[in-house]
Amino acid sequence: MADTATPNVIRRADYAPPAFLIDTVALEFDLLPERTVVKNTMRVRRNPDASRAAHLELMGEQLEFVSATLDGQPFANAHAHEHGLVLDNVPENFELTLTSICNPAANTTLSGLYVSSGNFFTQCEAEGFRRITYFLDRPDVMATYTVTLRASKADYPVLLSNGNLLEEGDLPDGRHFARWEDPFRKPSYLFALVAGKLVALEERVKTGSGKEKLLQVWVEPHDLDKTRHAMDSLIHSIRWDEERFGLELDLDRFMIVAVSDFNMGAMENKGLNIFNTKYVLANPETATDTDFANIEAVVGHEYFHNWTGNRVTCRDWFQLSLKEGLTVFRDQEFSADMAGGETDGSDEAARATKRIEDVRVLRQMQFAEDAGPMAHPVRPESYVEINNFYTMTVYEKGSEVVRMYQTLFGREGFRKGMDLYFKRHDGQAVTCDDFRHALADANGRDLAQFERWYSQAGTPRVSVRTRYDAAQQRYSVTLAQGYGEAAPAARETQKGPLLIPFAIGLIGKDGKDLPLQLESEAQASDSTTRVLEFTQTEQTFTFVNVEQEPLPSLLRNFSAPVIVEYDYSADQLAFLLAHDSDPFNRWEAGQRLATRELLTLAGRAASGAELQLDDSVAAAFARVLTDESLSPAFRELALMLPSEAYLAEQMAESNPAAVHAARQFVRKRLANALKDDWLKIYEQHRTPGPYEATPAAAGHRALKNLALSYLTELDDPAETVRLASAQYDAANNMTDRAAALSVLLNASAANGGSAEAQHALDDFYRRFEKEPLVIDKWFALQATQRGSAQRPVIDVVRKLMTHPAFNLKNPNRARSLIFSFCAANPAQFHAEDGSGYAFWADQVIALDAINPQVAARLARSLELWRRFTPTLREGMRAALEKVASQVKSRDVREIVEKALA
Ligand code: TRP
Ligand code: ZN
Repeated sequence: MADTATPNVIRRADYAPPAFLIDTVALEFDLLPERTVVKNTMRVRRNPDASRAAHLELMGEQLEFVSATLDGQPFANAHAHEHGLVLDNVPENFELTLTSICNPAANTTLSGLYVSSGNFFTQCEAEGFRRITYFLDRPDVMATYTVTLRASKADYPVLLSNGNLLEEGDLPDGRHFARWEDPFRKPSYLFALVAGKLVALEERVKTGSGKEKLLQVWVEPHDLDKTRHAMDSLIHSIRWDEERFGLELDLDRFMIVAVSDFNMGAMENKGLNIFNTKYVLANPETATDTDFANIEAVVGHEYFHNWTGNRVTCRDWFQLSLKEGLTVFRDQEFSADMAGGETDGSDEAARATKRIEDVRVLRQMQFAEDAGPMAHPVRPESYVEINNFYTMTVYEKGSEVVRMYQTLFGREGFRKGMDLYFKRHDGQAVTCDDFRHALADANGRDLAQFERWYSQAGTPRVSVRTRYDAAQQRYSVTLAQGYGEAAPAARETQKGPLLIPFAIGLIGKDGKDLPLQLESEAQASDSTTRVLEFTQTEQTFTFVNVEQEPLPSLLRNFSAPVIVEYDYSADQLAFLLAHDSDPFNRWEAGQRLATRELLTLAGRAASGAELQLDDSVAAAFARVLTDESLSPAFRELALMLPSEAYLAEQMAESNPAAVHAARQFVRKRLANALKDDWLKIYEQHRTPGPYEATPAAAGHRALKNLALSYLTELDDPAETVRLASAQYDAANNMTDRAAALSVLLNASAANGGSAEAQHALDDFYRRFEKEPLVIDKWFALQATQRGSAQRPVIDVVRKLMTHPAFNLKNPNRARSLIFSFCAANPAQFHAEDGSGYAFWADQVIALDAINPQVAARLARSLELWRRFTPTLREGMRAALEKVASQVKSRDVREIVEKALA
């Protein structure tokens, strides 16, 4: 294709219903790696609700057209072209059979039908089905599918597709077949097949209504010992969706399949979820606590899609957040409930740790997206390549938007809205507006203003002014909302004030919450947290009978995805960190304190000034460290400094080197000043005995390993190196082993390498040579390590690119080395000499020819280039221009052209 000079823009406003509908699809596959023949028989009719079209235009890509028959007769009016098939003069209602050929072995894009480790897999979302057969490949065309798979029995003993197995048997010449039927209508993006040498962990469970279901986790034979946690996560997900939302599994069989070549995390194909191995395989020796938690979250996420996404799907891809925002919200709530106690999830402090982690991701990644050239609303208005819109905004901000309904209406009101949504729309392809209307109608509310959360891009800012009138005992809180200096891409979309649920509490001198009574109310309410409905550009809320001047606790539990501006003093933040009854805001106070200090220090570092740490900041951190009333998991989160990427983004001019220097300075000061405490914590929070994957045990390990990492910064780290080496050697789990290795690598950076680090690195490789997910960690740990002048990390990375285990075609491996360096090691990547950018450009260009989706993700790591210091900015511009002049895919072009525009 040569016509990519100006990529076509797809607009939401241009939506039109399809001219034809497809009611049933019968697919037959003769699976051969280089030449798979697909026969597709469809029942097609004209759509009574669409304007009459002259032709039936089906989408198709990378297909070899073989033949068409219409109602059993050869059909001559079918014309294949590069993007599909045009059929002229078709009747009102007919059966169409199309035969085509594709080449799965040559498919490195991992979209459509492809081969991985000798097995067949599919990935159809968003527009991969058209790479398998000609079709109306859009989510508002829903059909029921029967699928027949035929393949060599020896090479592909397992044949899977969506739904229920109807029949299987042998064929001549060592071949066999299986026939599957999915009784539910679905859009083509939910189609899946898998064929190969796989084995399953199986379990039978009864759902709420007493029906028995077969659950399977399919993997390659050597991975069977790593499937238990995924299966448990699936069972927990099934129970949770019944209890929290009254939603039951609707198929007799539910399958998860793991594949090591995969573009994203996992895919919710009906009854046949396909997962990146990273989100399935775990045992204590190979997976960290974070891996275990991620698996639980992703298994939940894909399972929850069965209702939010599959039973009710999206009308068009602009509505993507309808399923993704809602399903992320559901998986976040699931994980929080699991952390907070299996039965009722009522341990609020434990639930809060999950909330903190989610907000940290949102602020670091989504806020950055909103500040750059890719800024878009939760429901975008246009796109060039839909794969570029599986974003932090659609997923994470989308989840925050859903969470705000629950904050406004409570869990019960939210549940009523969900019930009405399913009652109205089960089996349909609908819009974000349909979801909002269901929530509004079920709760008797007009949510017209709330629509702006879907249509306005950019991160809202809420500035807060407070006034205490001692004589009248009145406390007024004035909120003002706006967007500040938004990126141009965001500014265009901003029309007016949002409905912001703003949760607030007032704290007295003793650190306890004060009763809350607004001036319009007869008495104080029971709760000491109030959700203010903030709807105007500026609005004042007045509390009465406030007996002492309070300290406000603002935006409790992060009740809306906004930036709060309020001029707290350092003492006030330290007080909140010590006393706020809202655990999220306790953490938040510490982050504000640290961020402010770090930004001041980064500014000084940038101008070469001397650095000093405010004693009160160190004291506040010391109190958290030794506060036994706080859970270890919470302490770990509170003591972890904001990331370098987040801090750099907060600077007027991003300066990664200065941020790194400031952050290292603070870490060093805290390490040396609190050395004895860190050592004590390190000893106290060991988890001897067999590994337990519980949140409590994970909390101990996290705090212990944080202590070890601080101890790396001691002026004399010899003792730390001894501890880390011993921990490495004795570890019975990957959390402790990987943490120890990371500490050894960082401790050795200062000395230009150390024997202990090299020994552990070599041992790690040998020990886990046969575990690709662990070798990914081996690459990632080296790519994200601290560098030194003698040994910049780019040199290590370039050398690792030639390691026999490196493979650019495998996305996990590419991410482990290249993305880790370009996106997770800012101080090294943004080297003044531009070496990081040159490397980035080469890799984007190389990946573009293999896998445009993955290349486009990497391409995004320079999008904030305009915000950096002049030298870096110019280096990035040159790299972007190089990429723009050489890449071919629509995916990467959209990213780099928007960045340069
Ligand atoms: N729908 C999937 C999810 O969020 C993600 C997804 C979209 C995906 N497109 C993909 C996964 C392409 C793999 C490849 O659960
Ligand atoms: Zn999803």
